[in-house]
Amino acid sequence: MRICVYPGSFDPFTEGHLDVLRNAVSLFDCVYVGVLNNAAKRATFTPKERVQMIERAVSDADFTNVKVESFDGLLVDYATRIGASYIIRGLRAITDFEYEFQIDAINRHLQPHIQTVYFMANPSHSFLSSSTVKEIGGYGGNIRGLVPDCNIKMITERLMNQ
Ligand code: PNS
Repeated sequence: MRICVYPGSFDPFTEGHLDVLRNAVSLFDCVYVGVLNNAAKRATFTPKERVQMIERAVSDADFTNVKVESFDGLLVDYATRIGASYIIRGLRAITDFEYEFQIDAINRHLQPHIQTVYFMANPSHSFLSSSTVKEIGGYGGNIRGLVPDCNIKMITERLMNQ
């Protein structure tokens, strides 16, 4: 059974993330979406809220081989715990490469048998990030098309009340 983990902050989960997840779902038997619970970083949404929003998007997309969880600690330890031999990451532009290159080097050092698989973002999402969503939504802009429809209301309300 080919198990992978798609890790991230997902604060919030975007259409770009969904696109990467769609690719992973078609290639792996089981995909864990791992929401990083980083107590040191102030996030807009709690890990529980992020998990709920991703679960809604997964259900709307009819993905049947996805489990959504939050994790803390090292990614490779989490991957080992759930039996994942692959990590999934998305690449939008060359600027992502430097960061991903570093993460990959660290993870390989810690756990050489876990491989990272990268999916190039759909060009229509190359500008899209969670920060962009927060910037636009925070100014009352329309975030439709940037995040899954099922989460627009929750995200807009939170960003407007910040
Ligand atoms: O969506 P992000 O914020 O770019 O995801 C970063 C993430 C979650 C993949 C990375 O921060 C991570 O794996 N954190 C867990 C701690 C860890 O394993 N650190 C070593 C590799 S950087």
